[in-house]
Amino acid sequence: MKISVFGMGLMGRPIAQKLAQENYWSIVAYNRTPEKLEGLADKGLTVTSSPQEAILNNDYLILSLSDGKAIREVLLSDAGISFADKIVIQMGTIAPEESKAIAAEIQRRRGQYLEAPVLGSIPEAKQGTLLVMVGGEEKLFQACLPIFQILGKDPQYIGPVGSAAALKLALNQLIASLTAAFSLSLGLIQREGVELEKFMNILRASALYAPTFDKKLSRMSDRHFANPNFPTKHLLKDTHLFLQAAATAGLNTAGLNGVQKIIEQAIAQNLADTDYSAIYQVVNPPPTP
Ligand SMILES: NC(=O)c1ccc[n+]([C@@H]2O[C@H](COP(=O)([O-])OP(=O)(O)OC[C@H]3O[C@@H](n4cnc5c(N)ncnc54)[C@H](OP(=O)(O)O)[C@@H]3O)[C@@H](O)[C@H]2O)c1
Repeated sequence: MKISVFGMGLMGRPIAQKLAQENYWSIVAYNRTPEKLEGLADKGLTVTSSPQEAILNNDYLILSLSDGKAIREVLLSDAGISFADKIVIQMGTIAPEESKAIAAEIQRRRGQYLEAPVLGSIPEAKQGTLLVMVGGEEKLFQACLPIFQILGKDPQYIGPVGSAAALKLALNQLIASLTAAFSLSLGLIQREGVELEKFMNILRASALYAPTFDKKLSRMSDRHFANPNFPTKHLLKDTHLFLQAAATAGLNTAGLNGVQKIIEQAIAQNLADTDYSAIYQVVNPPPTP
């Protein structure tokens, strides 16, 4: 298989490297900023900073770019490029409507399109244990299954284009809301001087527990947010996208509007590129000396 992976960011790089471990697949890694391509040629990948080169020479185009705007700039800004005989697999988190519009443009240029957003982060991409959710033609999903099975254990077909994007946003809304809710409870525990382990033991034994609480506990209690797998800026992007989709769907988003404000405050405090659990800094600011 001849595959190009677009975007050597936090997720795209381990995805490209995982695919490159398959002996008979040739992988082209594209990134706008050339520095992020360093080290990949030694691992057998072909590297390029030219989107045209990455599009023209391969049959499968896997996208791990920040957002819909980046996808349009990289893939669609040159109106002369045809996608005939190419399959675009979009793995970033974008809105259902953006995904549908990009699909329509790819199809107009004679290509095929699947959305395949993922739950999980860098460790899961490295291990091939991402939760891969796919929207588009079911036959095309079946044809691309060998790729999805390298990245995730049990790739799921969800429905038409837009449905997997919506499911992914629904999951990321939970990341934002659960993290904000846990931050608030942890903040009260700490300010009232309740023993942390007593709180956690009762929470763990209750129906209120979510594993993400333990995953983020040490970062929050140590106030250590460096080296993120998933940065605060992307959580804000996804919260915006969810709010737009939910407003169109007629849902009451008052709760999430508050969470969005908290994430915006974290960005204003220079926490855009830290782990998203840094929203704890806003919910429970460090005591002033
Ligand atoms: N990190 C996670 O845990 C995770 C998990 C699931 C889903 N996702 C989603 O997957 C996508 C990628 O996430 P990530 O964490 O890998 O993001 P990231 O580290 O911020 O990487 C973003 C990538 O997009 C590229 N890019 C942005 N704007 C561009 C433009 N205008 N033209 C060309 N390239 C552009 C960047 O290139 P440069 O290097 O040149 O800036 C970089 O390669 C996002 O939609 C994210 O929400 C992330």
